[in-house]
Amino acid sequence: MKAKSSAPGKVILFGEHAVVYGEPALSLAVDRRITCNISTANLETSVNGYPINKEHHSYILECINKIDTDKKFKIETESNLPSGAGMGSSAAVTVSTLGCLRELLSKDLEEEKIAKDAFEVEFKVQGSASPIDTSTSTHGNAIMISKEKKEDFLWKIKKDENIWNIHHQDIPDIDLVIGDSGVHSSTGPLVEKVRKFYEKSNFAKEIIQDIGDIVRKATDQLKNQDLEEVGRLMDKNHRLLSILGVSHPKLEKLIRGARKYSYGAKLTGAGGGGAMIALTDEAEKVAEEIDRRGGTPYIIKSTKKGLVTST
Ligand code: MEV
Repeated sequence: MKAKSSAPGKVILFGEHAVVYGEPALSLAVDRRITCNISTANLETSVNGYPINKEHHSYILECINKIDTDKKFKIETESNLPSGAGMGSSAAVTVSTLGCLRELLSKDLEEEKIAKDAFEVEFKVQGSASPIDTSTSTHGNAIMISKEKKEDFLWKIKKDENIWNIHHQDIPDIDLVIGDSGVHSSTGPLVEKVRKFYEKSNFAKEIIQDIGDIVRKATDQLKNQDLEEVGRLMDKNHRLLSILGVSHPKLEKLIRGARKYSYGAKLTGAGGGGAMIALTDEAEKVAEEIDRRGGTPYIIKSTKKGLVTST
């Protein structure tokens, strides 16, 4: 018995961190993916030739727990998504593994079920998370998350006091450049850092709400294709994220360089290093500037393709 799957990474255009507290956010699936090949095994479960272990394969281990099976598997993954760079590699590995296991065991492949399970896996491993990365990786296209249910509603995810309504979002074709700072960071501790600030400070709560307002404006301006205004809102969103303490000097350097040729630029994903994103008509120039400043540039395209599986 064999199955294969792949799932895309993502970039968050607006609203990271604030989305954990129920504010809206917008993200886009990108044309870089994690591929998974799984077959059943006799003795033990292995990942890329090594016995599965909690330290290195925490997401995959939780995916197997979710499937609720005694079977052993030979799991092989491949990726052209940089990890620790804000592009949702842990969500993509989770969605791809869950999809592949469900395909292999002939379980239903409904997007909503996979997105919900993937969120729970991420939440368990990271200790805190919103469903943005996992829902984007499952559905592809672009996703808008909000407390309120709106047009193009896909599914609803609940955790503790938070409710996230997940929507399909049409956005115009835009040119984006990612700059990986090379300073790799894990999402969990950054989300925790913001949580501590949020819990003890009204100022932090206001910043989170202000980010929410920016996302609402940006969603409208993207529909109007007013890229100048979208860029200004990206810059504002970045300033607020810096105040929350999730930027990094290397990211600031890349963002300053990218802004010379961009409508706007901001960190994307959890931050603390990781990556920045620029909205531009001059992708090559931005990429050169990022490279000159010691970052790794990726000119990216959005993708409509979410999780795909086959036997
Ligand atoms: C990470 O890509 C996005 C965060 O908002 C965390 C989350 O939503 O799970 C920082």
